[in-house]
Amino acid sequence: MRKKVFLASLTRFFLPVILAIESSCDETSVAVIEDGRVLSNIIANQTIHYEYGGVVPELASRAHQENIVPATTRALEYAGKSLEDLDAVGITIGPGLLGSLLVGVSFAKSLAYSLSLPLIQVNHMQAHVLAHFAEPPYPSFPFICLTVSGGHTQIVLVRSPAQMEVVGETLDDAAGEAFDKAGKIFGLGYPAGPLIDRHAKNHPPEIHFPHPQVPGLNFSFSGLKTAVLYHVQQHTAQNPDYVTKHIGVLCASLQQTIISILMKKLVQAAKELNIRHVAIAGGVSANSGLRQALQDAGIQHGWETFIPKFEYCTDNAAMIGIAAHFKYQNGDFSSLDITPSSRLPF
Ligand code: KG4
Ligand code: ZN
Repeated sequence: MRKKVFLASLTRFFLPVILAIESSCDETSVAVIEDGRVLSNIIANQTIHYEYGGVVPELASRAHQENIVPATTRALEYAGKSLEDLDAVGITIGPGLLGSLLVGVSFAKSLAYSLSLPLIQVNHMQAHVLAHFAEPPYPSFPFICLTVSGGHTQIVLVRSPAQMEVVGETLDDAAGEAFDKAGKIFGLGYPAGPLIDRHAKNHPPEIHFPHPQVPGLNFSFSGLKTAVLYHVQQHTAQNPDYVTKHIGVLCASLQQTIISILMKKLVQAAKELNIRHVAIAGGVSANSGLRQALQDAGIQHGWETFIPKFEYCTDNAAMIGIAAHFKYQNGDFSSLDITPSSRLPF
């Protein structure tokens, strides 16, 4: 009997099971990770925001409250695990919407406290980068990652899971924001990124939108939004059906402009830092044009390229679990009095 208990604890030591929770924006997600392997990754989307054309923070918090327990139950069931099997709880501590983060953090703390488990806080942006370790092939260190989401656009130099440095970032809007704001001008729903991706298919990017001149490895997207607005206003004044009739070309041109702004700086970063392993991450990395552009650049520049599976591009708890797993291995645990931060630095 004693031997059995000893063996069981040895197995637990080598195969830590982590329950990870993500609630930074409008996705309630819970995942179970065993020894760095994703067993389940439940994502509850909040459709309530569609009619408002953007995420309504108050509604997001309320929806997290409703979704978090069922998502946890499903994640455990799908993984074939119970609460007794857990070795740690991983949680997104920021950046994100404060009310949304608070729901996840409070729930994670309660779980860790009641089960006497260590709590592991995870930076959401670092987790997007580490999503590349959810499934092989894994990039080898050092690599660079273009992380493009609704709130951030960063080029990150990744030396190890614990050593990451932002070498370039947007000075204003994020790439995902550029998709979503232009989509609003085109009268598309929220989030507009996936819709623009779909409308752009098989259309020529004929319209020239200006490219910003930004020094170093930084980006700027606020001028693009204004250029799109002026273009649409000017053409609808002459032809009220302009957007409806030209939605394909408008989306293809906007998408192509965003991709070429992103890829120009990514190529520059790879050259300057002498890096050949290049990755993309974050919601916008689901974009078919950007995925193709990275593959093409890989062939052209002799890079090995890394593109996450779709479920690991947009917000998900599996990436939080992977980041928590690396911290677990380093014994990097958090105290139960941590509080979330909406503007958590990288
Ligand atoms: O990483 P994410 O799920 O949440 C944040 O942390 O922000 O990213 C959401 C962003 C939104 O702006 C959405 O429009 C964009 O990712 N997005 C896309 C695509 N799928 C999601 N943008 C362009 N093309 C897509 N296929
Ligand atoms: Zn995100």
